[in-house]
Amino acid sequence: MSQTSEPTATGADALRRQLAAAGQEHLLTYWEQLDDQHRSLLERQLAAIEWKRIPALVAEYVLKKPQLAGEGSIEPARCYRADGSNWDKAAYKAKGAGLIGAGRVAAFTVAGGQGSRLGYEGPKGCFPGAAVSNKPLFACLAEWIAAAQSRYCRDTHCAIPWYIMTSPLNHAATVRFFKENGYFGLKKHDVMFFTQGVMPSFDMETGKVLLDQTHMPAVSPDGHGGSIKALADSGALADMTRRGVEHLSYTQIDNPLVRVIDPAFIGLHAFAPDSSGEMSSKMCPKAGPDEKVGVICKVDGKTAVVEYSDMPAELSGAVGSDGRLKFEAGNIAVHVIGVKFLQKLALGGADGGIALPYHRAEKKVPFVDLATGQRVEPQKNNAVKLELFVFDALPLAEKSIVLETERVEEFAPIKNAEGADSPESCRRIQTRRAAKWLAAVGKGNLVPVRPDGEPDCTLELSPLHAMEADDLRPKTIKPIARGDEVIL
Ligand code: UD1
Repeated sequence: MSQTSEPTATGADALRRQLAAAGQEHLLTYWEQLDDQHRSLLERQLAAIEWKRIPALVAEYVLKKPQLAGEGSIEPARCYRADGSNWDKAAYKAKGAGLIGAGRVAAFTVAGGQGSRLGYEGPKGCFPGAAVSNKPLFACLAEWIAAAQSRYCRDTHCAIPWYIMTSPLNHAATVRFFKENGYFGLKKHDVMFFTQGVMPSFDMETGKVLLDQTHMPAVSPDGHGGSIKALADSGALADMTRRGVEHLSYTQIDNPLVRVIDPAFIGLHAFAPDSSGEMSSKMCPKAGPDEKVGVICKVDGKTAVVEYSDMPAELSGAVGSDGRLKFEAGNIAVHVIGVKFLQKLALGGADGGIALPYHRAEKKVPFVDLATGQRVEPQKNNAVKLELFVFDALPLAEKSIVLETERVEEFAPIKNAEGADSPESCRRIQTRRAAKWLAAVGKGNLVPVRPDGEPDCTLELSPLHAMEADDLRPKTIKPIARGDEVIL
């Protein structure tokens, strides 16, 4: 490592001491050569990292591979069934609607991811999501919130606030997009953005943090589990308390079909006898044993998500006496989380929070080679990234319920450019849902069908027009021609 001279500012001195104590002083290798602007950029980025935690993380997660799951007893999770066969859906829906109407529920969307699999440059929420109009994903979610507000808060005039987590990499672009689009019809003061933290990328062999540029450490967002700390640090949790919000409806940005606010799910979470109202989950039965989704199950008696890569093959494929996969509960990343539970997680531990485990991913991360000063694009994995997952909070809840949902009703994520979970598969599922709802209200004959049973058209249905099949009953819908693209 080449010698660096001391930064002059007091802040920079303190930073150098912190870096030295963490064994990461090499990050100032180019300090002498940087101009003032680049120095302050480097200083700001380094100051955003909690250096005192880094040596322990390097020892535990970078220089060795931790065993995260699969050691305890794994049982299937009990689920409330989608058809309401083992619960009183209407009663819980009414209770949930009451909470929404009383202003006790907010929406929360994690939108800090990088969308790298999709190959899209901007914030993922700007990506076209609606099947025909190509409305962006943010608009699809905003319309659901607007529809829920006008349905459940009509008499009370309460709002459903929307908290959106961005990352430092996409925050400015996200906020600009909302401004340019008039907050998609929502009130500006009910939409709040906050930024999640970042974690540095580490050299896999040495545990040293990589430099992306001479004035920039290699960093990436700290995972959606970073939302817990970010909700507290940003003041979002305090804002919820001020507004009287008690439950947060958590969804991801990648799924335009998601029921952003679902009264039946919120009612179960808040009132079911086997829920402590801390954190609840929705699941969708896996398409097959090999579908690459996490599985919601009971680990040592506690509800937890086991990532597909950690699930023993004999369990993934096990079939019960009813012919269903025993471990069928695919994690669709939809939760309701109690605000008090979030406060406990964010503020309750000895060091000010309850620590979730990190997950280790080996990646190719470009870096500045300190020996040559050249930037290297590695051909194989050279780095470890660490992320927190929000579902690791599930086992910390005292009692946690799981609600089943059907894929066609609310799971059509856009993750890949093509194939499974792509814009095309998402359009197909949106069309299937609209066709299913039309059939449910006796209008199925309006939809042309292919020999394989698929609708022979593309359909888009805004939540502003229908949040469930019954809403289509009074609507007049013209017959749809084969191959048509129709906004219902
Ligand atoms: C995730 C779940 C998986 C589940 C699937 C359902 C994980 C590890 N796995 O997979 O169990 O079956 O969704 O669709 O989450 N995000 C942030 N900040 C980050 C990282 C991600 O806000 O630092 C957000 C993204 O913007 C996105 C969501 O979290 O909205 C999911 O992230 P992604 O990494 O795409 O998760 P998946 O691997 O698709």
